[in-house]
Amino acid sequence: MTNILITGANRGLGLGFVKKYIEKKIHLICTTRDISGSKELLAYKEKYPDNMEIFELDLLKDNAPLTLANFIKDRPIDILINNAGVGSSNQHFQAVSLNPWLEVLKVNLIAPLMITQAIIKNVKVSSAKKIYFLSSQLGSIEDNNSGGMYIYRSSKSGLNQVVKSLSIDLKAYGITVVSLHPGWVKTDMGGANAPVSIDESVEGMIRVIETTDIADTGKFLNFHGRELPW
Ligand SMILES: NC(=O)c1ccc[n+]([C@@H]2O[C@H](COP(=O)([O-])OP(=O)(O)OC[C@H]3O[C@@H](n4cnc5c(N)ncnc54)[C@H](OP(=O)(O)O)[C@@H]3O)[C@@H](O)[C@H]2O)c1
Repeated sequence: MTNILITGANRGLGLGFVKKYIEKKIHLICTTRDISGSKELLAYKEKYPDNMEIFELDLLKDNAPLTLANFIKDRPIDILINNAGVGSSNQHFQAVSLNPWLEVLKVNLIAPLMITQAIIKNVKVSSAKKIYFLSSQLGSIEDNNSGGMYIYRSSKSGLNQVVKSLSIDLKAYGITVVSLHPGWVKTDMGGANAPVSIDESVEGMIRVIETTDIADTGKFLNFHGRELPW
């Protein structure tokens, strides 16, 4: 059975992945910051007890990668989806301040690499060997025509750089590493005015995940599979 690990699986796009994958009879390892508060995840777990595990993981905690690795042990992870992320308010030039910025960098940029580092041995021994990072078009330097958003943009630009290096470092192991832009999606982060539904975005991203392989490693793709400029 295919094993997929999704971070931030309790709401938004993470929960959207869970809804679609659980119907495909795939074994899911879902992380959330608060198991008891993750009502929808718990309902899926009750309905599909053999297809799902839930693990409590806060990416702001320094020991998060180690606790996750201890939980996974030596089981293969076919597809790792580094989904969890945060936005930020007060991102104008004059408003940006140190601690909110550091917190976003920790969650969006540093933790995804540390999680990947901690469980790379599990991806190496899997069949599919694929890792996807939820980035954003807002992280594209070439596409930045409107300025501002220093905190979020820099976290996702940095993440794109991490993806590029990882794709090179892990190529010899046959591991595919891709940066994914989900579109502007109606989630808590995207807001009600976003034009793309969670279903549409996740269906698109799952298609991209299914159709990409080592030939696509190191690409920055949107949910339609179109390549984006870095
Ligand atoms: N929505 C969009 O338009 C859009 C566009 C481009 C990229 N993205 C990216 O897509 C990904 C998912 O976004 P979304 O729209 O689904 O956002 P969302 O609805 O705000 O959900 C964010 C998820 O990340 C989790 N998370 C936040 N901080 C965490 C931490 N410290 N440790 C562990 N988990 C944490 C949240 O958990 P809690 O419930 O505990 O907070 C939640 O599960 C993010 O990486 C985002 O940057 C989204």
